Amino acid sequence: MCGIVGVTGRDDALDVILTGLQRLEYRGYDSAGVVMDESSDRLRVVKRGGKLANLTAALSDESISGSVGIGHTRWATHGAPTDSNAHPHTDPTGRIAVVHNGIIENYEELQATLPDATFSSETDTEVVAHLVAREVEGGAELPDAVRTVLRSLDGAFALCIQDRDTPGMIVVAKREAPLIVAHADGVSYCASDVAALIRHTRDVQALMDDQVAVLTPDGITITDLNGVAVEGHAYHVDWDLDAAEKQGYEHFMLKEIHEQPTAIADTLRDRLRPATGPDGSPRLHLDECRIDEGEFGRIDKVFIVACGTSLYSAMVGKLAIEHWAGIPVEVEVASEFRYRDPILDPHTLVIAVSQSGETSDTMAAATHALDQRAPVLALVNVVGSTLAREADAVFYTHAGPEVAVASTKAFTTQLAAFLLIGLYLGQQRGRIYGSEITDILNRLHHLPGQVEQVLEQDAAIAELARKYASTHYTMFIGRHVGLPIAMEGALKLKEISYLHAEAFPAGEMKHGPIALIEDGSLVVALAPAGHTFAKMVSNIQEVRARGASVLAIGTDGSTADLKAHAHDLITLPEASHELASPILAAIPLQLFAYHVAVTRGEDIDQPRNLAKTVTVE
Ligand code: M6R
Repeated sequence: MCGIVGVTGRDDALDVILTGLQRLEYRGYDSAGVVMDESSDRLRVVKRGGKLANLTAALSDESISGSVGIGHTRWATHGAPTDSNAHPHTDPTGRIAVVHNGIIENYEELQATLPDATFSSETDTEVVAHLVAREVEGGAELPDAVRTVLRSLDGAFALCIQDRDTPGMIVVAKREAPLIVAHADGVSYCASDVAALIRHTRDVQALMDDQVAVLTPDGITITDLNGVAVEGHAYHVDWDLDAAEKQGYEHFMLKEIHEQPTAIADTLRDRLRPATGPDGSPRLHLDECRIDEGEFGRIDKVFIVACGTSLYSAMVGKLAIEHWAGIPVEVEVASEFRYRDPILDPHTLVIAVSQSGETSDTMAAATHALDQRAPVLALVNVVGSTLAREADAVFYTHAGPEVAVASTKAFTTQLAAFLLIGLYLGQQRGRIYGSEITDILNRLHHLPGQVEQVLEQDAAIAELARKYASTHYTMFIGRHVGLPIAMEGALKLKEISYLHAEAFPAGEMKHGPIALIEDGSLVVALAPAGHTFAKMVSNIQEVRARGASVLAIGTDGSTADLKAHAHDLITLPEASHELASPILAAIPLQLFAYHVAVTRGEDIDQPRNLAKTVTVE
C-alpha cells in the first residue's frame, strides 16, 4: 500500500528518496509525491497522479535539491488518485508538509474544529498539516506540536512531517501502520518498509504504536506521546539487495515462483533441536517463544486467522493440526474475527498467518486474541514485522523478500511451515513420537527437489495458458487438501489476469455452481492421489458432460482415469505425505495464472487495484 521514504543529512536526498520509492512500488500505489526542504524560506512539493514515472518526469522539469526530504507513494482511500490528492499535503501557508499511510478515521470531525480552513484535497490526511501548523504557529516546537495533534487522531497512521521553519528535522510517528527509522554515517532515514533503506543500512529500529521519532543528521530520538524517551525495536536485516532484484527474470512473480525450491528448503531447515524429550529424540522448536512452551501442550482449541492467500494456507494448516495434534481448528477470515464474539481463553491458541506481518486485519485479529489472554503464534515471513513482534511466539517461513503482489513462495512456505506446526503441536501434546517426527521430516526434505520437477513443466503449462487465455469463466474444484489449492488457484488467476474465476468444493457443485457450466467454460480439477481421488474423477465427468473443458492436476502413477476424462493433464510427482501434496499442486496453478496474464498483456507484478501489503481495514 502507501509507501514512505524520508531522509535528512544527504546532499543527494532526492535521489535516495526516489530510489527508495521505486523499491516500494511493489506495495501498490496510484500517485506519488515528494517534499524537499530547499532553503529556509520554502518547502518544495511536487506530486502527480499515476505511476512514479509521472513524478520523475515532473521533477526533471524543475531543479530541486536539498538535503532533507520526504517521498510518498499513495494508494487511494479518500479521494481519487489525482495530483491534488497525492501526498505530501501542506497547510495553506506551505509551512508544514505531511505524508501519511493509513486512515485518519475522525478526519471530518477534526476538519470541523477548523471552521475557517479551506482544504485543497479530498483526503483524510490534509487536516493533519493544518492542525500541526496551528500548533507551531502558536509557538510549539515541531515535536511537541506533533505529539499534541497525535492525541486527537483516531485510526491508523504512519506520519512523516516537515516544518519549513525547523530546517534539517523530520518528525515521524506511527499507530497500527509500520514505520522504521535508521541512522548511519551522519544521515537519518525513515521508511514504511525496510526494502527502501537496505541500500544504506541494515540496522534499523521499528517504531512502536504512539511513538514519535525526531530525525536530524545528528541522530534519532524516540519518545512516547508524553515526550518521555523510549526505545523502538532494533533489528538487523539479513537478506541482501540481490534477493530483492529481478535477477534476469522478466517479472518478480516468475522469479519468486522459481525460488520455491530454495525457499521451502529454508523453511524446513534447522527445525530440530538435540534431544531433550523423554524418548531421546530431537525436538521441533519455534523461532521465537516468549511464553512457556509447555502452554502449547495444554491448548484445546485453535483458531487460524489470515487474509487472502495466507487464508488458504490456513485451511491446509487446519488439516495438518487436526491430523497430528488432534486439536479442533477453526479457520477464520481475519477481517471478521474481531467483529463477532470468538470464544477465547488461555487454552485457545490463535495462529495469525501473514507474509508481511503487517496486514491490518490480521494484526487486529491477533490483538483481539491477545486482549482476551489467548496465546498468539505468528506465522510470518518478514522478520521483525509488527505481527512477529507482538505475538507470543513466532514461526518464520524464511522465504526471503516477496515483491510481486501475487503471493507465491510465501504461500508454499506457509504450507510447509504448517506441516511443522502440526507436528510441533502434536509433539507438545505428546501425540507423536520424536522418531516419527524425524521420519516425516526426512521425507519432507524431498519436497524442494519435487518442486523443481514441477517447475520443469513451465513450458508445457505456458502452452496450456495460451490455449485457455481467452476463457471467460474458470471454475476450480477440489476436495480435502485440493480445496484450498483450488481456491488459491482461482485467486491467482483473477488477481493478475482479471478473468472471472471461482473455486468450490467439488462436492458442492451439484448444489448450485454446476449451473454456471456451459460450452467454453474451463474447469481446473485438483485431483491428486489420495482418498478423495475417485470422487474427483466423477466430478470431472459431470462437468465435462455439461460442456466444460477440463484441466486436471493429478499425481504420477494415478493418472489413467484423468487421461480418460480430462482434456488436459498436469502430472505431479507423488508427495511424501498427502498433506504435503498441496505444495506441489499449487505450483502449476501459479505458473498457469502467470502465463495467462502474460498472454493477455497484463501488469504482472503490480496488478490493478491491488496492494502488496494491505495496511488499511
Ligand atoms: O501479507 P499477508 O500474507 O497478510 O497478505 C494477505 C493478503 O493480502 C495476500 O495474501 C493477498 O491475497 C495476495 N495478493 C495474494 O496473492
